[in-house]
Amino acid sequence: MARILITSALPYINGIKHLGNLIGSQLPADLYARYNRGRGNEVMFLCATDEHGTPAELAAAKANQPVADYCADMQKVQTDIANRFGLSFDHFGRSSSPQNHKLTQHFASKLADAGLITEVADRQVYSNADGRFLPDRYVEGTCPNCGYDGARGDQCEECTKQLDPTDLINPRSTISGSTDLEVRETKHLFLRQSAMRDQLDQWIDSKSDWPILTTSIAKKWLHDGDGLQDRGITRDLDWGVPVKKGDADWPGMEGKVFYVWFDAPIEYIACANEWAEANGKSDADWERWWRTDKGADDVKYVQFMGKDNVPFHTLSFPATILGSGEPWKLVDHLKSFNYLNYDGGQFSTSKGRGVFMDQALEILPADYWRWWLLSHAPESSDSEFTWENFQQSVNKDLADVLGNFVSRITKFCRSKFGEAIPEGGEYGEQEQALIAELTTRIRAYEGHMEAMEIRKSAQELRAIWVAGNEYLQSAAPWSTFKSDPEKAATQVRMGLNLIRLYAVLSAPFIPTATASMLSAMDTLNTSWPDDVAEALNALQVGHEFSVPEVLFAKITDDQREEWQQRFSGVRD
Ligand code: 2FM
Ligand code: ZN
Repeated sequence: MARILITSALPYINGIKHLGNLIGSQLPADLYARYNRGRGNEVMFLCATDEHGTPAELAAAKANQPVADYCADMQKVQTDIANRFGLSFDHFGRSSSPQNHKLTQHFASKLADAGLITEVADRQVYSNADGRFLPDRYVEGTCPNCGYDGARGDQCEECTKQLDPTDLINPRSTISGSTDLEVRETKHLFLRQSAMRDQLDQWIDSKSDWPILTTSIAKKWLHDGDGLQDRGITRDLDWGVPVKKGDADWPGMEGKVFYVWFDAPIEYIACANEWAEANGKSDADWERWWRTDKGADDVKYVQFMGKDNVPFHTLSFPATILGSGEPWKLVDHLKSFNYLNYDGGQFSTSKGRGVFMDQALEILPADYWRWWLLSHAPESSDSEFTWENFQQSVNKDLADVLGNFVSRITKFCRSKFGEAIPEGGEYGEQEQALIAELTTRIRAYEGHMEAMEIRKSAQELRAIWVAGNEYLQSAAPWSTFKSDPEKAATQVRMGLNLIRLYAVLSAPFIPTATASMLSAMDTLNTSWPDDVAEALNALQVGHEFSVPEVLFAKITDDQREEWQQRFSGVRD
């Protein structure tokens, strides 16, 4: 049994995430976690809210709430939506947890001991009207790169260029709108990433099986221009992890906190500690996932994230881990995604454009969305959500292919033989051919899932459903029944066993519908079909079942038009 540690990029706390965020990290991570559990592997799947930094502070100010209260409330909202989407985290933690405070301060102290942290007199934007420094998103202005006039101090959303607040043209405070700003010197800590360039370069080179998207981004940052830059890891903010060296004060750093991108990835580790404390486990129980000196050397660690997060995970976070000199687990495989666009434009949290997770669940169950998103995951390039494509994919794949198969065979059996597997003969030639085809396809499906090729996995799964439909179509038990009821009974037995098999194989994609399929088949047997012939004999003659409710309703043209209209504007 393999041990698999899985983390999904931590969603910012500032509001409910849109479907583009979901498919960029949490959903594919969940697919992989569920698949591995289905294969009998031991899985630790961790995620948390990313609660520090200006996104949190600005959202709390907008909601007119103290930032700690805002984060506590929003964490509950995100937990609830994650549950309703079937995201099967072993723990959904908080980067503001005491465990993360402690671990972040611990890493800073180790990095300082190793000589990898320097104090730098840094130039920061100061607002006279607000009486404070304005880091990151507290400043907006015109992007020096593309001219967009709503660029934020950390990044331009329009052209994606990473910025410093001092780069912006015509800067203004996002707190007061004031333009009475000046640049002042203030002392900050910098992580000497440049000193670790060769070590990081070699580590990236050792990852020959990583997606090109991942390594090309890392290499660009390592070698472009002046190469890897040292990075400011502190900020003049109230909310965050206070700058300390372990437990001790850090002279000159009073009142400052660590930068959100320093503490957020450390939460991947702290989250396991939170999991242990929440579940009455010991330190050894979580350390066996994270410390290579305490059992984690045989763990496979996989991270999922959008492409904008790659530099932080291939360079900054590994620099923190390697620089600490302690035996923490480094990522083994990093799966990154391009962007999902929405109906001719971008999904945007700040602009409220697109479909958000709560809205999606108001109109359709999670499985409909999970299937579309996963089968259209933006892997090799950006992909686009359109309502037409969504309708077509739900109606064809889920309703016509899978749903119809389940309904047809269960109803036919009920009408001719009753609600139990009927007595029939051995499987014949046609069934053996189906078993052979399914064996080939299931092995291919496993290969794609293990390689985290999500679209290919979805295509193969669909082909597995189609094979069953084609079998049913050509075996035609409704015709066979007239001349040879015993043969029809054998065909029906195959059909009902296929439902159980499909439920097991499809559970990572559509966990709710597959739970209904298993419950209709009245079985708890979810064993993986290592031997397909055996799997198709799991339900034996006399085993009772019931006809399930409609698994997937088709999306009508009227619904599609209504939703298209409803989501064409922006959310408040
Ligand atoms: O881009 C984002 O949404 C960030 N909140 C991701 C953080 S991932 C991690 F390192 F914590
Ligand atoms: Zn720009």
